[in-house]
Amino acid sequence: MSERIAVVTGAGSGIGLAIARELVARRFSLLACSRDQRELDGLASEAGDRLLARVGADLSTDEGVRALLDRVDVLDRAPDLLVNCAGLGSWGEHLSIESSKVRAMLAVNVHALTTITSHVTRAMVARGSGRVLQVASTAAFQPVPMFAVYAATKHYVRAFSEALHDELDGTGVTVTVLYPGVTKTPFLDAARFPLDGAPGSVGWIARQALLEPEDVARKGVEGALQGERRVVVGALNQLQRALGIALPDAATRALWRSFLGRK
Ligand SMILES: NC(=O)c1ccc[n+]([C@@H]2O[C@H](COP(=O)([O-])OP(=O)(O)OC[C@H]3O[C@@H](n4cnc5c(N)ncnc54)[C@H](OP(=O)(O)O)[C@@H]3O)[C@@H](O)[C@H]2O)c1
Repeated sequence: MSERIAVVTGAGSGIGLAIARELVARRFSLLACSRDQRELDGLASEAGDRLLARVGADLSTDEGVRALLDRVDVLDRAPDLLVNCAGLGSWGEHLSIESSKVRAMLAVNVHALTTITSHVTRAMVARGSGRVLQVASTAAFQPVPMFAVYAATKHYVRAFSEALHDELDGTGVTVTVLYPGVTKTPFLDAARFPLDGAPGSVGWIARQALLEPEDVARKGVEGALQGERRVVVGALNQLQRALGIALPDAATRALWRSFLGRK
């Protein structure tokens, strides 16, 4: 079998790093992207020749996205797998979040993901095969007060990617959406996500459902390679999706008010 090539964004830490390691273990060769190239040093020493290239690119900028796509185009063929994992969040009242953070969330979680997906998927369709793995979040299943923009960006990832999955039916290319719940990665500190709190609070529920990045990565990669439409990791997170779909709006909002300790 010829070499299988994967492009992974957000490969320097957390879920993206775990996905990159999972792919190396499955004998993929990688083009890995992170904002800070030095973050890819550990992966480079583990992956050896399987790390074809590391791209340091700020995906909140058009230049960063272009730099990644230019490097992808240098490959002699379309990648076999694209993993869009780079993303960021910011917990807090929307009006208290700096506008630069809001811009970065929209740029990376929405704009970069869309541009990279469109470019790489077009080449995959031309060849007639390929897999795409989009890292969304269980925040995509309902509006989340205190995570308003972050959750909205993940609703976008869900709507865009699940629709694309259907559009590409019959092309040989599949798009899988991975919905992790709260996972032990640097994201939680960076987003100032509250992991403390009394029983029944957001933090307490998150602690009960806390996932390991390696488990999320393994299930996401398995789902993507099988061409599944979506992968929701963990029983509590599957319940969250089911409730988000089944409950009337007023009930969902009442639940979240109670998780947040609001009347
Ligand atoms: N951890 C959770 O609880 C959780 C739950 C649901 C979904 N997710 C999603 O999982 C994905 C990965 O997050 P994680 O939990 O693994 O956290 P993480 O370790 O903080 O990983 C985020 C990755 O995104 C990259 N990134 C952020 N801003 C970027 C930018 N401007 N340009 C290029 N790369 C950028 C980071 O690179 P640098 O480090 O170089 O900035 C990092 O590699 C995200 O899309 C996140 O929304 C996480």
